[in-house]
Amino acid sequence: MEGQLVTERLSKRYGSSGMALQDVSLSAPSSGIFALIGRNGAGKTTLVRILATELAPTSGRAWINGIDVVADDKRLRERIAIVPQEARTVAWMTPRQSTLTYLMWRGFPYGEAKRRADESLGRLRLDRFADRLNRTLSGGTKRKALAAMVLASEADIVFLDEPTTGLDPVSRREFWEILRELAKDRFIFLTTHYLEEAEQLADTLGVLGRGRLVAVGSVPSIRGRTRYQYSVKIPAGARVPEVSHGEVTTGKGGEVQILTDEDEAFAISRKLSVGGSRFSVSPVSLDDIFFQLVGEPTQEDAEAAQAPEGAT
Ligand SMILES: Nc1ncnc2c1ncn2[C@@H]1O[C@H](COP(=O)(O)OP(=O)(O)OP(=O)(O)O)[C@@H](O)[C@H]1O
Ligand SMILES: [Mg+2]
Repeated sequence: MEGQLVTERLSKRYGSSGMALQDVSLSAPSSGIFALIGRNGAGKTTLVRILATELAPTSGRAWINGIDVVADDKRLRERIAIVPQEARTVAWMTPRQSTLTYLMWRGFPYGEAKRRADESLGRLRLDRFADRLNRTLSGGTKRKALAAMVLASEADIVFLDEPTTGLDPVSRREFWEILRELAKDRFIFLTTHYLEEAEQLADTLGVLGRGRLVAVGSVPSIRGRTRYQYSVKIPAGARVPEVSHGEVTTGKGGEVQILTDEDEAFAISRKLSVGGSRFSVSPVSLDDIFFQLVGEPTQEDAEAAQAPEGAT
């Protein structure tokens, strides 16, 4: 279907190891920004690489704008650009040279490549750095230079695997603005570890937990579907009242958090007020929702997050 990203029971197993991706089925607009979140080893990069036609799934199918990512990969590849998670800039080139080279490799004649490179570097506010060697740039500027390369191309489907990892908060916000602007006429599929970033950027949010898609939809729709909508926080040392339903967790510093529904949050607040305790009540954050959806990290998560032996 034109305008849609569709996957049908997409699964991936690397060699004889466990399932990196299991039965991922989704349907989302292939416009704006799709943000995929999940812990280390959840399967984000695996899903990106399959959708970007770099990796064949073990089973299942996927289409972008009606084009099959496996059977019709060549046709799709012309429209795709990707910045892999481990992408590095070439040390002895400048951002302008890298962008030009990339565009000419994609088939643009020199003049057109030059015009596009200048425009893209300007849009990413890299003019000041465009003619400095990549190896002299900060980590964040290097990541922007990589984004400038793919965003200068004609690709209207762009995959960015953790584009803002390592950026300072100011650069990250600047990058968000650029991404929002660029998503007006392209589909951007990105992965991130930052829940706040997903919330800020995502037209569609996908949540992966241990290879399975545990939620997909707009941020408000995912908020609406989670079990507990309220969070009550009680400072360390204060008495915690009995909770009839909800989830009670104690943070490292001893602060207690109760995730619960509106009625129970009200009942707990009343008990705490009567007892004269300090506390706060607020709607759940995306962080709390993430915990409700994928649970606390387990041993299995820790193992999945380990880099596999001899992985390529
Ligand atoms: N080439 C490979 N060979 C074997 N196992 C792999 C390979 N690539 C990934 N895996 C395994 O597949 C699972 C999912 O990995 P993936 O890289 O997709 O996770 P991720 O969500 O991108 O993690 P991160 O946030 O750390 O980038 C992990 O258990 C990982 O160890
Ligand atoms: Mg990854």
